[in-house]
Amino acid sequence: MSVTILGIESSCDDTSAAVIRDQLLLSNVISSQDVHKQYGGVVPELASRAHQANIIPVVDTALRNAGVTIAEIDAIAYTRGPGLLGSLLVGASFAKGAALTLGVPIISVNHLQGHVLSHFIKDEPNAIHPSFPFLCLLVSGGHTQIMLVRGPMDMEIVGQTIDDAAGEAFDKCAKVLGLPYPGGPVIDKLAAEGNPGFIKFAKPNIPDLDFSFSGLKTSFLYTLRDKLYTEPNFVNEHLPDICASLQQTIIEILLSKVEQAVRKYRIKEIAIAGGVAANSGLRNALQLLGQKRGWKVYLPKKQFTTDNAAMIAIVGYYSYLEGKTSPLDEPPLARLPL
Ligand code: KG4
Ligand code: ZN
Repeated sequence: MSVTILGIESSCDDTSAAVIRDQLLLSNVISSQDVHKQYGGVVPELASRAHQANIIPVVDTALRNAGVTIAEIDAIAYTRGPGLLGSLLVGASFAKGAALTLGVPIISVNHLQGHVLSHFIKDEPNAIHPSFPFLCLLVSGGHTQIMLVRGPMDMEIVGQTIDDAAGEAFDKCAKVLGLPYPGGPVIDKLAAEGNPGFIKFAKPNIPDLDFSFSGLKTSFLYTLRDKLYTEPNFVNEHLPDICASLQQTIIEILLSKVEQAVRKYRIKEIAIAGGVAANSGLRNALQLLGQKRGWKVYLPKKQFTTDNAAMIAIVGYYSYLEGKTSPLDEPPLARLPL
């Protein structure tokens, strides 16, 4: 018996709907919100309004692209949290209303579990995925953590940031440089032309598998401020080098903890997920380190790194197989532990 799941994601500033049949992806539609660009960051009220405007056309397009009618959907999976409450409410309300009308169950999904299980989306019949157990470095705008993943429904956070997320470090430093939001992809592009050893920024000394990025942000700001006293054109003249050096520091912070986690758990299946997993410098560095250490490294396709509903639908699929559906009166939560 095949299972068809409609996934809905609306936790931040992307409205997305996807259809999967068993593990196979039939469609994945993402509508990104440009309205935040002029403010240099996501404005929660504008995000929820944009979700309201986008949700029906996005779901409609996802169904049409999949060649599936709404009557063929077995369950609707939606992001319950973590995320912006006003944004989550739009997806949750839509999912509940549609499920009630269609008489199908809903499945509430943790967004972070979605990022991890994005590795199990089959967008082609021969797509490969990590074997259990594996370690997953989850790096996004809101989260930076190392997960020990024992099974699709069994994962544990073994290290996490004590302040800013890696994506936030990219975005905040980009803002200092006057680059548009979100800064991560812009820094990635500029860094490709720069010298990663140009500036050494301070790296934190945090115990165990935890991370910290707020010190890097301060080090970045003060280093540039000091340089600008003597060289007013410093940023303009060295933008690619500054970006490459910042990116290199973030990569070194992340990968040193991955190495530590491998030593601690003796697991050599390594995956990365989340928006920052799209970073080409991080992908290359992890691949090289994996070759050197004899790890199996899994890099998700770029379309599955940033927020998308396919990853929510795949969690829905595994939950459905285990008979795990959710009550209609379960509220979305801005903070939702795994
Ligand atoms: O997973 P995501 O779409 O949303 C959250 O759940 O946060 O991640 C968004 C984050 C942003 O901070 C963005 O700057 C970062 O991912 N990002 C990147 C790249 N693409 C997206 N950071 C570095 N390099 C990239 N290529
Ligand atoms: Zn995310």
